[in-house]
Amino acid sequence: MEENGFVLVTGGAGFIGSHTCLDLLEKGYGIIVIDSFLNSYPKSLERVKQILRSKNLTFKDKIFIYQGSLKNKDFILRVFNESEKNGCRIDSVIHFAGLKSVKDSIKNPLNYYEENVLSTINLLYVMNLFACKIIVFSSSATIFKPFENKLINEECQIESINPYASTKIFIERILNDLHISDKKNWKIMNLRYFNPIGAHSSGALGESPKGLSHNLFPLIMECAIKKNFTLKIFGKNWPTKDGTCIRDYIHVMDLAEGHIKALEFLRKNEPTIINLNLGTGIGTSVVDLIKVFENTNKENLSFLFTDRRKGDLPFLVADNKYAKDLLNWTPLRSLEQMCKDGWNWKLKNPNGY
Ligand SMILES: NC(=O)c1ccc[n+]([C@@H]2O[C@H](COP(=O)([O-])OP(=O)(O)OC[C@H]3O[C@@H](n4cnc5c(N)ncnc54)[C@H](O)[C@@H]3O)[C@@H](O)[C@H]2O)c1
Repeated sequence: MEENGFVLVTGGAGFIGSHTCLDLLEKGYGIIVIDSFLNSYPKSLERVKQILRSKNLTFKDKIFIYQGSLKNKDFILRVFNESEKNGCRIDSVIHFAGLKSVKDSIKNPLNYYEENVLSTINLLYVMNLFACKIIVFSSSATIFKPFENKLINEECQIESINPYASTKIFIERILNDLHISDKKNWKIMNLRYFNPIGAHSSGALGESPKGLSHNLFPLIMECAIKKNFTLKIFGKNWPTKDGTCIRDYIHVMDLAEGHIKALEFLRKNEPTIINLNLGTGIGTSVVDLIKVFENTNKENLSFLFTDRRKGDLPFLVADNKYAKDLLNWTPLRSLEQMCKDGWNWKLKNPNGY
């Protein structure tokens, strides 16, 4: 691995980023992390180091952390320059940084275009300048136009239903144009994630956003920890087996491993651009998830049914065949494991980091 340069991980202190940083370091990669800590805490990366120490794994000269925003192109230039001078040339990027709340994006679209799209343009500009042309990008399953109860493959129609989804679609298009402009060099993978949940099995690393998450799994855990919290289930008359919405939940460590496989694929193969769905291919309804959480963790949740939420969709599940074949990757962890690991994290860190 030494002949390769360092991997720049943007948004590396965040939920998926921190788990991926851990996996990269465990596999011997050298990493540079950029994070503005807009939606995360430096402590997540301290925990990454703590887990490595507990396994007697060394990370000396393997991780460098820069606090700053990708909105600032000069800052990105400085990181690339300094890394090169220090003998840690950046040769590839895993680009997690960005905002991710659909609700907030509807309220503050400009903020989303600035944090997600403008930041990515700055990053790509600097990558181009430094001839660093390998990028794995965090896209999302929210870009798809779902059609009833069918698994979503990479060819499915794309349609934006909110500004957050638009930012992901625009970035994918920018990456596509960039690839066309220099097909002999750019190696690009757009990973469309489904619903990452769970946490590292140590309970030292997990999801800890700034502010309340609107996602189901963090709300389930909130409900389990605060005994006076009632979980709202939006709609019980969707066209699904039990009337509640169906999603594809994937363990965050399986997702992290998918990123490393994606990076390795790009490093080994000819320049290309590939779109890939990362999910388990298994549909789980809201009621299923609550039941599995309750049974696995021996907890009782209080919930009630309310009206459907505007913008929700009944069924979003990945066809993950292409990812499995191309990357030789298989999500290994069960829904029970996701519930167990998520709850272990929450019990050990009821207020996050
Ligand atoms: N978690 C999900 O359910 C999900 C699903 C699909 C796609 N994604 C995408 O995956 C990526 C990572 O998601 P996550 O769940 O880890 O989110 P997260 O909020 O935990 O992590 C994102 C990180 O990026 C940082 N950041 C944001 N804007 C930045 C900027 N301009 N410059 C530098 N740092 C910045 C934040 O501080 C945070 O640490 C995001 O791009 C998100 O849109 C997430």
